[in-house]
Amino acid sequence: MHKGKGLALAGAFIIAAFTAFGQAEIRPGEVWPDTKGEHIQAHGGGITKIKDTYYWYGEERRKGLDTNKRYVSCYASKNLADWTFKGDVIQMSDPENLGRKWILERPKVFYNHKTQKYVMYFHLDNAAYKYARVGIAISDRADGEFKFVKSFRPLDHESRDIGQFVDDDGSAYLIFEDRPFGFRIARLADDYLSLEKEICLIPQHMEGGAIVHYKGLYYAIGSALTGWRANPNKYATARSLAGPWSEFKDIAPPETNTYGAQSTLMLKITGSKTTSVIFLGDIWKPKAQWDSRYLWMPLEIGDGKLWLPKPAAFTINVKTGETQIK
Ligand code: DGJ
Repeated sequence: MHKGKGLALAGAFIIAAFTAFGQAEIRPGEVWPDTKGEHIQAHGGGITKIKDTYYWYGEERRKGLDTNKRYVSCYASKNLADWTFKGDVIQMSDPENLGRKWILERPKVFYNHKTQKYVMYFHLDNAAYKYARVGIAISDRADGEFKFVKSFRPLDHESRDIGQFVDDDGSAYLIFEDRPFGFRIARLADDYLSLEKEICLIPQHMEGGAIVHYKGLYYAIGSALTGWRANPNKYATARSLAGPWSEFKDIAPPETNTYGAQSTLMLKITGSKTTSVIFLGDIWKPKAQWDSRYLWMPLEIGDGKLWLPKPAAFTINVKTGETQIK
């Protein structure tokens, strides 16, 4: 074999092996290049796992977009570190005469095994954040295109920030912030196109809501309501989603304001050796949203306690479930 070719093949093999074992580093707060070298644009996002592929959906905020449209991006990865841009799965004009500065935020995608549809929920609003509804869009494929179906107020409640939660038994829930009352958890109907029933109202005013079910306990986290500014995110626990929920406690030293981040999801990785939970947060840059960063970090979790360690580079092995902080 030609020497150069052999070296190139060896190099490709090393990269493939590296990727297969999921050892590429994640560096919280830094620019996070996708496989083409562009900073990942998936803000306020969510993650959907299909077989061995993770899909990361989020707010597309790159420079140069049509300012009348709103975009949701989709990235795919098998190791949670190297992400390939699959395109903008939503490129939508104002669907309901909401006005020039209409809002589409925090997209979350649920895969419905019965209908085999991908169902996206997002926060749909006008500039004043007074419409307070969820929008739904569906697709036959993970990488779109998603078609807008409708908007509504979930169970007739106001809804701004939303979060997604799928329990170990496969049941899917929407978490939504109902400004007058607090943080609601509601189960999706069979086809995921509406909400079947409310499971709980946690009377705590929280945004960026996220839940994980870990070793028999539910952990809920969220941020305070301070717009784009970071604040001390907090958590509570319960034996059942319906509660009762414990008091809320800090997830990090409060003076760090969650190290400048706001929660969007907790991702559970169940591997052959262990189960890890990763905190997924956004470090918003309201004046330069395209440069907003991500704070992903393995959580210290268990026995009713949850703690976000000081951000540092880390690796995830999606096969074994192990994480290693560098
Ligand atoms: C906080 C929310 O979490 C974000 O999604 C966004 O709606 C900002 N508020 C807007 O100020």
